[in-house]
Amino acid sequence: MRLFFSFLVTLTLTSCASDPASIAKVEEHAVAMPDRFSADAAMDVLLEGGNAVDAAITAQFVLAVTLPEAGNLGGGGFMTLVMEGKPAFLDYREIAPEKATRDMYLDDKGNVKPYDSLFGARAAGVPGTVAGMWAAHKRYGTLPWQRLLQPAVTLAEKGFEVPKALADNVVWYLEKLEKRGLKGNFSKYFGHMHANEVFRQPELAETLKRIQQEGRAGFYEGETAKLIDAYMLKNDGLINKADLKNYEAAWRQPITVEWQGYDVVTSPAPSSGGVAVAQILGMFAARADDIEQLEHNSAAYVHLMAEISKRVFSDRATYMGDPDFIDVPQAALIDPKYIESRAAEVNLTAISDTDAVKPGLAESEDTTHFSIVDKWGNAVANTTTINLTFGSGVVVEGAGFLLNDEMDDFSAKPGVPNFFGAVGGEANEIQPHKRMLSSMTPTIVLKNDRVKLVTGSPGGTTIISSVAQSILASLYFNLDAEQAANAPRFHHQLLPKDTLRVHEGFDATMLQALSEMGYTLDKRRFGDIHLIKHTPAGLEAASEKSGRGKSMVVGKDKRN
Ligand code: GLY
Repeated sequence: MRLFFSFLVTLTLTSCASDPASIAKVEEHAVAMPDRFSADAAMDVLLEGGNAVDAAITAQFVLAVTLPEAGNLGGGGFMTLVMEGKPAFLDYREIAPEKATRDMYLDDKGNVKPYDSLFGARAAGVPGTVAGMWAAHKRYGTLPWQRLLQPAVTLAEKGFEVPKALADNVVWYLEKLEKRGLKGNFSKYFGHMHANEVFRQPELAETLKRIQQEGRAGFYEGETAKLIDAYMLKNDGLINKADLKNYEAAWRQPITVEWQGYDVVTSPAPSSGGVAVAQILGMFAARADDIEQLEHNSAAYVHLMAEISKRVFSDRATYMGDPDFIDVPQAALIDPKYIESRAAEVNLTAISDTDAVKPGLAESEDTTHFSIVDKWGNAVANTTTINLTFGSGVVVEGAGFLLNDEMDDFSAKPGVPNFFGAVGGEANEIQPHKRMLSSMTPTIVLKNDRVKLVTGSPGGTTIISSVAQSILASLYFNLDAEQAANAPRFHHQLLPKDTLRVHEGFDATMLQALSEMGYTLDKRRFGDIHLIKHTPAGLEAASEKSGRGKSMVVGKDKRN
C-alpha cells in the first residue's frame, strides 16, 4: 500500500486544535509508568479529579523516592503536553554552574579524564526538576500542590517495599563503584536496601516536606540550598547558592510536524530528540514505498532505518546544542525539502560509507519516562533523568537525594565520544548556565486534533530510536500498544561504524541477512517504552515487559 507522504513543518502552536469544542473527551484515564508506585499514585490523582499535569507532578515526585536509578529531585527533564488541545513544552533540563569551564574535564595533556563528568559532585549540573514541576503546576495544576506531593512524602517517610530489580541494580552499582575505585556516600544511603523489604528515606522525606510546604523555594533556597552548597564545597563541586536561586525552567515552543495525516508534537532544542525523530519519520516516509511490502522488523526495514539514523546522528553531532547559547538551525534541519534531499542519499541495498556521511547543512544508561492521558483528552509525556543509573552516585548529605551527572552530556572535547558514544563540537561545549544537549524525546501524536499516541523512553541516544520506532510500530505498522511497546528494537548512531545495537527477539534469519550486509550486531537491550494509544475501542496503555513498569486504563469507575 502506498502511503501519502506528507511532512509539513509548522513551528506554530496554532497548527493543532484551537477550538475546544472539537476536542473529544476520552472518558477514560490512562497511565503508563516505570513502576507501580508512580502508576497507583498518578491514577489516584486522576480519580480524585486532577488532570494529567496534576498526575504527572505526583508521579515525578514519587519516582524520586521509588526509582532512584533515574527518578529524581537532583536532575531534570522535559515535558511535552497537550492541554485543552494546545501543545506546549516545558524544559527543566539542568544547566552548567556559573563556575563551569569549557575544559573542566580535561587533564594537563588535554585528554578527557574518564570519570570526572560521570561521578561525584563535580559531574552535576544545576537541578531543574523542582522548578519544572512548580512551573507546570502554576500554569496547569488544578489540585493543591501539597496534595500532589503527599504520596512521595509518605513513601519516603514510611517506606516502600523494594522491587527486586531495584535491589539488584543497587548491588550491581556498588560492585561497579568498587571495581573503579570510586568513593562516595552511595553505600551509606542505599547499601542497606533489600528486595521485598521496606526501605525508608528520612532525609529525603524532610526535603520533600520543605518542597511541599514552600514550593520552589523549598529546594532552591533555605535549608535545602544550604545543604547542597555545603556538600559542593566539601566535595569539589561547583554548584553554589546563586546557581540554585537563579535556575529557571523554560516554556518553549514544541516542534510540531505533520506526518502522514498526524501532527507529531515533540521536543525542541536543547533536546536533539525532536529534530531526530522528525527527520527519521520524514526520511522513512520518503523512502518506505521504494521497498516492496515493507515488513515490521524485517532486514530491509532495519537497514533503511540504520541508513536514516546515520544521517540523523551526523547532523546531531554538528548542529545541536542549547538554543539560548547557539543558533540551532532547527527549522532548516526539519525542512521537508532538506529531509527529502537527505532521504535521497539513503542506499537501500548496501551500507553507506560512514566517513562519507557528513552533516547535511553546509547511557549502563538510564533516565525514565511516563505517559498520561486524562478523561478530558489532555496528555502529558514526561521524560526525566539524572543521566546514568543513580546519576553521579553521590547523595547530598542531609537532603537525601542523588545528584545528576548530566555534565557528561556536554561535549568535553570536540570529537571525543561521551558515555553514549555521541560526539559533539562547539555547539555543545561547556559554558556557564548553558543546557547540555539531550536526546530525551517525550512525544505526543495527534490525529484530527485528538491525542492518538503518547510515547517516550529512557536510554541516552537510543531514546531517539525507541521513540521513532514506537511511533512507526503503532501508527505505520498498526501494532497495538502492548505489541508496539514490546516489539524488539534496534539502534544505529553513525559511530561506532556500521554497528547495530539490537534487542533479543529478532528473527535469526533476518539478523543473519544484516550481518551479511556488513553490519556488526551488538546484542544489548536498551530503553523502556511507556506508551498510550487511542483506538476506536478506547485507550490502550502499555509498559515494556522487561522493565518494572505498570500501566492501566480506568473507565468511568473501574480499574482494569
Ligand atoms: N542524559 C541523557 C539525555 O538527556 O539524553
